Parts: sequence; structure tokens; C-alpha cells
Amino acid sequence: MLQEHVLLWQAEHARDHREAQSQSRYASLFEALRRLNDDDVWQLQGDDLALLNTLRPHFASARDIAGLIHVPGAEELSAVEPPPGLPGKKWQQVQAFLNGLRPRQQRVVEWCSGKGLIGEALCLPPFLSPELSIEGLDIDEHLVSAGNQRAQKYQQPRRLHQCDIFSRASEQWLSPAHTVFALHACGGLHQHLLERGCEQGVAQILLSPCCYHRFVDHYVPLSAQLKASPLAPSTNDLRLAVRQTATARQGEREARRQLQLWHLATKQFAARRGVSMSSYRSLPHSAAKRGFDYFLAQQLDANRLPNKLVSDGERKELLDDAERLLCDQERRELAAMMFRRLLELRCVLDSVVYLEEHGYTVALDRFCSPQLSPRNLRIHAWRGASAIGGI
Ligand SMILES: C[S@@+](CC[C@H](N)C(=O)[O-])C[C@H]1O[C@@H](n2cnc3c(N)ncnc32)[C@H](O)[C@@H]1O
Repeated sequence: MLQEHVLLWQAEHARDHREAQSQSRYASLFEALRRLNDDDVWQLQGDDLALLNTLRPHFASARDIAGLIHVPGAEELSAVEPPPGLPGKKWQQVQAFLNGLRPRQQRVVEWCSGKGLIGEALCLPPFLSPELSIEGLDIDEHLVSAGNQRAQKYQQPRRLHQCDIFSRASEQWLSPAHTVFALHACGGLHQHLLERGCEQGVAQILLSPCCYHRFVDHYVPLSAQLKASPLAPSTNDLRLAVRQTATARQGEREARRQLQLWHLATKQFAARRGVSMSSYRSLPHSAAKRGFDYFLAQQLDANRLPNKLVSDGERKELLDDAERLLCDQERRELAAMMFRRLLELRCVLDSVVYLEEHGYTVALDRFCSPQLSPRNLRIHAWRGASAIGGI
């Protein structure tokens, strides 16, 4: 499916969709996208199935994609009160991720642990077990120290270590005597776990992958099966896999759109004046409150160009043009978004197949709703062929 419709989603084609728009097989799809109103666009950006259902009458493959992206889900848990000082939503994700799982080994490692919330949950009922030894690895010394302080304060038998998982030092935590948990481990971080974990024969891996494009220079699948595939998405293409706004707050989404609009207006400004703007300063969402003139001044400064004031008339023209461009871009992007979850599943299935190729039994499910976390796929792999896999 990805191969057949590469013109709709692959980054180099999706920039302007020129080639896809020239093909009669996509005429009805782009016509339907142009007719969407702003509210529809806003809603469909965050809901894969609603997007596919809306476009089904104009794009026959939408129905097949909806079938292909179905992954069985664990039952939703009711919200539990987080321990003091922890964010409620993250704690709910941790609970959902651990739901139904048990470590098969007493030596438990949390890979790229942050403050070690998995470890903290394992120190509390229903997981609490005096035999468990719980250690976490993270490169960020502040997170490691904050996690160790919490462990000490609440007398939790766990310890975090500052460790670059790409270094040889991490291998002492990967052995047949270890169960490894990795919640929201980005691209290269989870690929490295799978490669080294399989090599060292880790007993059990529980992984929720995220941000497939991060910590990889050039994305290469791990499994022999996908290595042999003629389709080779680039690292840049993989950004599409995590483009979903279901959990962003309305204010954040509005701020992000405002900055996108000003970015386009700044490009128009540069084109009109014939100046070259090769770098763009990335500004925090709070910059959306400071107005276009501030945004433009920042970008001119980033390119060592003198600040130029724009007249009220020119500012209006620039912003009106940018609004037209952005509306067109947002509607076309929905054509690519139809393939978002497919691309994500292709990366995740690569991990599943790689583990199977190395003798693991593997289960894949969806551990929470996209509203709680859009990165909600869970891989559970264990050595041996037990039907229940430690659940
Ligand atoms: C998306 S966060 C997930 C954190 C935690 N598992 C959670 O779900 O809250 C990724 C973590 O990977 C850590 N990280 C990034 N590069 C790393 C590396 N080379 N070695 C170890 N940890 C790394 C970051 O510091 C960050 O805490």
C-alpha cells in the first residue's frame, strides 16, 4: 500500500504534491480535500480513522488502510491517582504500558528510563516483589539524579545509572538473566536495544517505540525481511509516522499554526526582497504571543540580515498570502496523513520480525488510546515458545 501510493506520502513528493495532483486517479481525493472546512481539517489531523472514513468515497484504498492499521487493544484502565510530584497523564501511560505484564526475570532494567517511572511503578503494588532488582539507564544526569532522589525519599529499592546506551557499558545490563522495559524509546535507542539485546540473549523485552526518525543517521530496517523490501523510507520520511496532534492542547496547536503561518509569510517576504534566508530560528510556542514583526526580526537576525520594518499594508498582504498557502498545505498534508499509521506499523513490524528472526516469541498490541498517547504500540518479546509469555 505504501509503495503503490508513494507519491502521496513520501517527503520529497509530499512537499508540493505536484506529481500526485497531476494524476487522474487522485483528482477526486484532492478535490475532496480542497472542499474541507477549517473545523474538519482541525479534527481530521488528530484522528486517523475519521480521516480515512471521510476520504473513503474519494480514495478507494482508504478502506483497506483502515483495515490494515487495526491493532488489537488492551482494555482501557480507569485513571489512578499518581504518586506525589508525578504528572497524572504520564503515570496513566505507565500503568497502561505495564497492564497485564510481569517481569520473567528478577533483574529488571529500564532502558532510557528518564526519571525511572517504570521502576517506580514496579516498586508499588501490584508489582511489588522483594526479589526484584530494578535498575534504570539514562544519559541525562539531571533525570538520573532526580529519579534517585525520589527513590531515596520514598524508600524504593531501585537505582538509576547515568549511561549512554550506545556505549559498551550498557551491555552489562543485557543478558539472559535480564528483563528489559523500554517505554517511549526513540528510533535509534530502541533499534540499539534490539540489536544488542538479541546478541546478548536478553530473556524478555517490553518495548513501546516512538520517534522513529530520532537517533538514526540513515534509517535502515533491522529485519532481513524488510531489508529485502524495495521500499526504503528515509529518516526524513519517518517524521510522518509521529505526526499526530491528538494529545496537544488547543492552545499549543493554535500557537504551532501561528508560527507556521509566520514562517510562510517570512519566506514570502524574503522572495519579494530577493534576500536569501538559509536558516530559520526555531522559536518556542510562547513566541506566538509576540507578533509577526518580532518573528520576522528573529529570522532576519538568524541570517545576519538587518531588521526591516514592514508597512501595515505589506504585513497584511504577506499574512493573507501565507494564510492561503497554509490552508492549501494543511489540506494536502491530510493526503499524506492517511499513511501515517501504516508507516509507523511498518517500523514496528520490522522490530517484531527482527525479534522473531532471532528466536523470540513476540506479541504486539495497543496499550492505550491515542488520546492518552498516540505512541501506543507495545511489543512484548520473550525467549522460548510459551503461549502466555509471562502475562
Ligand atoms: C522519550 S524519553 C522517554 C523517557 C522515559 N522512558 C519515559 O517514558 O518517560 C527518551 C529518554 O532517552 C534518553 N536518552 C537519549 N539518548 C540516550 C542515550 N544515548 N543513552 C541513554 N539514554 C538516552 C533521554 O534522556 C530521555 O530520558
